[in-house]
Amino acid sequence: MSQLPSYERMAGRSVLITGAASGIGAAVADLFVAEGATVMLTDVADAAGSELASRLGERATYRHLDVTSEDGWASVVDELGTWTTLVTSAGAALRSPLAETSVDELRRLLDLNVIGTFLGVRAAARSMTGPGASIVTIGSLRGLEATAGLGAYGASKAAVTLMARVAALEVADRGIRVNTICPGSIATPITDRPDFDDTDWSAYVASIPLARRGTAEEVARAALFLASDDSAYVTGTELVIDGGTAAGRTTPIS
Ligand SMILES: NC(=O)c1ccc[n+]([C@@H]2O[C@H](COP(=O)([O-])OP(=O)(O)OC[C@H]3O[C@@H](n4cnc5c(N)ncnc54)[C@H](O)[C@@H]3O)[C@@H](O)[C@H]2O)c1
Repeated sequence: MSQLPSYERMAGRSVLITGAASGIGAAVADLFVAEGATVMLTDVADAAGSELASRLGERATYRHLDVTSEDGWASVVDELGTWTTLVTSAGAALRSPLAETSVDELRRLLDLNVIGTFLGVRAAARSMTGPGASIVTIGSLRGLEATAGLGAYGASKAAVTLMARVAALEVADRGIRVNTICPGSIATPITDRPDFDDTDWSAYVASIPLARRGTAEEVARAALFLASDDSAYVTGTELVIDGGTAAGRTTPIS
């Protein structure tokens, strides 16, 4: 549970979070409940999602939602009725040079990261109403700058970022804001996959100006800013949370 003080910044908000059983989505659920929101946690990892929702108390519920399913979205949106806030955290990574990436791998990743986000943004654009409505998509630093070995993943996240900007333009007149968080490297289970097994994390961390990976809670704090009225005049943009990685090189030119 969140250790930081609550200011009830999400009181009265009805929130749907995808990918809420783990990592960033779980941290967002925890923080938003602590800040007064009513939260529907959704995921395909039903045991972990239900366990977290019951730990968070009566303002949290869990529902199975495969974000790639149109019927799944229709059913959770129907149950929600009125909602104010969407955080799209469901996603996966793939570490594979383009030359070794199969069409099936790329399609699976685009289906989850792009179509899954699209269906959520579309559902929100159709049924959410302002004032105070906010959509927060989770992109990635890898969708803003090219990273060798992360081409398919980066392309999927670039698509998420641009789609969120377009959505921001299309729904602004209804009082709905749309922004993307672009995390750098955050310590979560997302890299617990065979393709990341030979990653040299200490070399990687040495390249981060703040010299550590971020935490899911730090990303949740950014999501709180973008979901609450603290960011009332912020829409159609990205918030990069990367320990300074995108600022430039740490090594001087010699
Ligand atoms: N951790 C990082 O370094 C990092 C960096 C940049 C962006 N991100 C993005 O943040 C988001 C959350 O990642 P995380 O690090 O918390 O990873 P995570 O693996 O801890 O959480 C991802 C969640 O998505 C769920 N999921 C997978 N397929 C799904 C589907 N079809 N429908 C619904 N849920 C599904 C998983 O069950 C899991 O609970 C992802 O979109 C990821 O790309 C993560």
